[in-house]
Amino acid sequence: MDLERLLTDRLAPAFAAVAGVPVDPAVRRSQHADFQSDAALGLARRLSRPPREIAAEVRERAALADVCASVEVSGPGFLNLTVADHALGGLVSALAVDPRLGVPPVAEPETVVVDYSAPNVAKEMHVGHLRSTVIGDAAARTLEWLGHRVLRANHLGDWGTPFGMLIEHLLDLGEAGAAQELSMGDLDGFYKAARAKFDDDEAFRERSRRRVVALQGGDPATLRLWRLLVTQSESYFLTVYDLLDVTLTGDDFRGESSYHDQLAPTVEELDRLGLLRRSEGADCVFPPGSVGRDGEPLPLIVRKSDGGFGYPATDLAALRHRTGTLGATRLLYVVGLPQRRHFEMVFAVGAQAGWLTAPVRAEHVGFGSILGPDGRMLRSRAGGAVKLVGLLTEAVERATALARERNPELGEAEAAEVGRAVGIGAIKYADLSGDRHKDYVLGWERMLSLDGNTAPYLQYAYSRVRSIFRRAGAAARPDAEVSLAEPAERALAMELVGFAAVVEEVAGSLEFHRLTAYLHRLAVAFSAFYERCPVLRAEGPLRESRLVLCELTARVLRQGLDLLGIRTPERL
Ligand code: ARG
Repeated sequence: MDLERLLTDRLAPAFAAVAGVPVDPAVRRSQHADFQSDAALGLARRLSRPPREIAAEVRERAALADVCASVEVSGPGFLNLTVADHALGGLVSALAVDPRLGVPPVAEPETVVVDYSAPNVAKEMHVGHLRSTVIGDAAARTLEWLGHRVLRANHLGDWGTPFGMLIEHLLDLGEAGAAQELSMGDLDGFYKAARAKFDDDEAFRERSRRRVVALQGGDPATLRLWRLLVTQSESYFLTVYDLLDVTLTGDDFRGESSYHDQLAPTVEELDRLGLLRRSEGADCVFPPGSVGRDGEPLPLIVRKSDGGFGYPATDLAALRHRTGTLGATRLLYVVGLPQRRHFEMVFAVGAQAGWLTAPVRAEHVGFGSILGPDGRMLRSRAGGAVKLVGLLTEAVERATALARERNPELGEAEAAEVGRAVGIGAIKYADLSGDRHKDYVLGWERMLSLDGNTAPYLQYAYSRVRSIFRRAGAAARPDAEVSLAEPAERALAMELVGFAAVVEEVAGSLEFHRLTAYLHRLAVAFSAFYERCPVLRAEGPLRESRLVLCELTARVLRQGLDLLGIRTPERL
């Protein structure tokens, strides 16, 4: 049980008794004490009593004697709560014997679909896909750890009109040559060459058009060539996932093509429900509330005027499948903010059609862009899109060089291992540690720095704790009595018992910067503790108690970083 919850449970009945109705005590961390409750202020009007008087009565009624060392009414009517050391020590001891660090599995597991990564076949993954992959993987890991059934859906862009030209280009290169180019990851080159021919060469354009028709008609020879493109790209994406340490596997590919046979039934159902309207030759749904800048209603086009189905139809079919067939009750779409309007409309139509009704809900987990050092969209030197593998390789190389420099004793293999964990960790952490709705600047110096709110700082804190245990030659005794005499010990304990509340919050909001900020606070608290409180030089029960604090710090750092997909090497 975390402290916020404990204090809330104790205060709620007292507030209810005073107010005559249920009241949320609104307990939060405080500058003036450990916690404070401001709920009395909100009740003053309703009860026509001064808030200080209400707070004083709650103070009298609340059963807090075993938890708090002091409860004070302050300011206009706050309750300032200071937790008793023995109560805090007891909570720390409970964490020490809990393999889940105070975070119980959820009482009612849900089926959650996490739609993330979703690059496009025969196209390079760009930095937007990097963000989706990193954030989506953190969501999948976190919800899974909490006990939900997580279905990863990699909504690969593997269908549509460009495949006509891509297949024709593949034939021009010869299958072996094309496979070579695609597997080396020169996807942009492949795509651009196809595009250039399509733009310049009328005969190629005609072949491409015929090829699209053959593809859509299910021509076996064409399908085989299409499969070739898809599998080459898939295996390339898998190497990126492997390098990135994300949990997506080959089984998670749920390309747009996999909804192919559900498109017509989906649109027919919309028609039966009377939701379709024809507009400029296309079949559309006009969801309520969707209006353009000029106030005109905006349509979601489900069947284009040429009879083809596009991106929106596929998303509607996928939504219907996810809630109807897979039984998911929570759908997450980890996609950049520019697609916000698209998802608003898809969800609105899903609701109208009855595929998305409470308690089932869908959330667009949107995010901003990655910017270059110049504050503009990240671009390569040549001005094109930055190649993701290049970025990751550079991160690993830089981190490996830094590791060697800092620690010349590291062997080759270990330096490589550390470089990989730190480089990839730094990239992911930089992505997760800011408010995801905002853009951020990719700066190597900052994200690889051992100081500040960075992955290397947290990994370093972890390795420091591990080195204490290497020197101690033994693990902590989980049943040791925890004493919190020093302020720095107390402050560290306070952070440790706060892990559960943060994880729970983040599972709802998917704002991972709250978890990174917490882990950073924890590492800072540990560092202050370690500076002021000798551990190995302490003796007897004090040493035992401090070793418990060290061990818990390492475990929380490791678990917290693992939820973010970041490794914790034993030494840096
Ligand atoms: N492939 C798309 C892109 O690269 C992202 C797909 C996102 N997922 C979805 N269900 N629409 O922009």
